[in-house]
Amino acid sequence: MNVRPDPAQLGAPDDGIAKGDLLLDVKNVSLSFGGVKAITDISFDVRKGEIRAIIGPNGAGKTSMLNVINGFYTPQRGSIVFRGEERRAMKPHHAVRQGIARTFQNVALFKGMSTLDNIMAGRSVKMKRGLGWQMLWHGPALAEEIEHREKVEEIIDFLEIQHIRKTPVGKLPYGLQKRVELGRALAMEPSLLLLDEPMAGMNLEEKEDMSRFIIDVNQQRGTTIALIEHDMGVVMDLSDRVVVLDYGKKIADGAPDAVKTNQQVIDAYLGVAH
Ligand SMILES: Nc1ncnc2c1ncn2[C@@H]1O[C@H](COP(=O)(O)OP(=O)(O)O)[C@@H](O)[C@H]1O
Ligand SMILES: [Mg+2]
Repeated sequence: MNVRPDPAQLGAPDDGIAKGDLLLDVKNVSLSFGGVKAITDISFDVRKGEIRAIIGPNGAGKTSMLNVINGFYTPQRGSIVFRGEERRAMKPHHAVRQGIARTFQNVALFKGMSTLDNIMAGRSVKMKRGLGWQMLWHGPALAEEIEHREKVEEIIDFLEIQHIRKTPVGKLPYGLQKRVELGRALAMEPSLLLLDEPMAGMNLEEKEDMSRFIIDVNQQRGTTIALIEHDMGVVMDLSDRVVVLDYGKKIADGAPDAVKTNQQVIDAYLGVAH
């Protein structure tokens, strides 16, 4: 039998919110680019401890929604409540400081840098002392450096990527790059992890591995996850609740089984005329 480590030891942040309580509340958000309405009046929430899937056909507004949540885009209307604090818009620095980390639809890593250094880069948001301090190699900076290294090593073990720790990520197969990117996001010890198509372009085995890591992150580290995914099988297996977008609007929201049999959702996926 597997011995599961105590989540508290794996650095799950204590954000004072109980499991099942509201962590993120997206309220009536609308976002347009010039004449293009990417998101129209969308509301949904994410509860602490859950895996929340965001699905919908291409161009539905899923990535735009993640970009609003982590402050890349400022919506024209609506607001975001994260950990009880309401904002018209999240700014990237708010998002990071408050514990929102993400991965991207197209892997965004430093390709020439090693796995270890990429994950360490994710850790930099946690570093109190600037580079100058670290170069001086004084006591406090050294202690902090050691602590960061330990956290990064723990993530490398957790994701089973010891064998590629020194490899430049540009040389890695795509599936492993995605895993390293997950590692970089985990290095921020987020309370909310946003994953934009973490399994896109993967073969079946890679998908199964990534699914397992997502479940382990959620269960062992206690991290709340919102993920965009196209593979319906994966979505049904992984998620507690699903929100469905189509042409920038929310068309369904609920348990995977209910969403799967919803006629509007079926029509959207079959491309029935609107
Ligand atoms: N930066 C942008 N500038 C202009 N249009 C954009 C931008 N980002 C997204 N869009 C448009 O918004 C709509 C939703 O896109 P997106 O959020 O990427 O959808 P999804 O991730 O569901 O495929 C699309 O019509 C897309 O072309
Ligand atoms: Mg997208």
